[in-house]
Amino acid sequence: MRKPVIAGNWKMYKTQAETRAFLAEFLPLVAESRDAEIVLAPPFTALAAAVDAARGSAVTIAAQDLHWEPEGAFTGEISARMLVETGCRGVIIGHSERRQYFHETDETVARKVRAALDAGLRPIVCLGETLPEREQGLTEQVLERQFRGGLGALTPGDFSSILLAYEPVWAIGTGRTATPQLAAAAHAFLRGLASASFGGDKAASARILYGGSVKPGNIRGLMAEEEIDGALVGGASLDPASMAAIVNFREG
Ligand code: 13P
Repeated sequence: MRKPVIAGNWKMYKTQAETRAFLAEFLPLVAESRDAEIVLAPPFTALAAAVDAARGSAVTIAAQDLHWEPEGAFTGEISARMLVETGCRGVIIGHSERRQYFHETDETVARKVRAALDAGLRPIVCLGETLPEREQGLTEQVLERQFRGGLGALTPGDFSSILLAYEPVWAIGTGRTATPQLAAAAHAFLRGLASASFGGDKAASARILYGGSVKPGNIRGLMAEEEIDGALVGGASLDPASMAAIVNFREG
């Protein structure tokens, strides 16, 4: 049985004060939740505030990116050991917005995943096709390239320490969610790739989250799919009540 993970990617939203206010409202709403692991990924500047406010709760904090070197002349970048020091436990890697706007490649994803694992951070590795790629029938080819390029060098043991997030780019921030069936098919394909690379047991226990316009109104349908092990939520994770409703999807 794979325990679901509901993760919120706050992107470039929320100051430290807003982060504290969010957690003050959110934590009581999920205090009784046992059905899912809860992760929040605030911007770098709010990580320490989030860790502090979430202390003693079941919520863990993740960053949204990192650099693969431990330190160096890389203006504007943040390393794994700096993230560890804030108390955060995971890090999103390879988000499509980073691939699209900041030239993230499968090669940099692979380096970042290695650095995160070496520092004891759990990577949440994002993959997904664009609309033109889907329309041209290239979805599986793109997922396979991203999977092999980003994760191909891992050992089976490494692989069991990561979370995967399937995020079709055309569903992000558009209100256009993938149907549960379409998402489940992509997840099954990714699980097949995992099985071929890391073995059937590791593939069977891997948790693959869906991301792209997840809301309180569509989470139940998505989670009804055996293949979908949780969600990476953008816009709807910014509001405490809507994020709590997603976390508490079984009660909805
Ligand atoms: P939205 O939920 O706003 O579509 O964003 C999804 C996402 O990119 C999560 O990483």
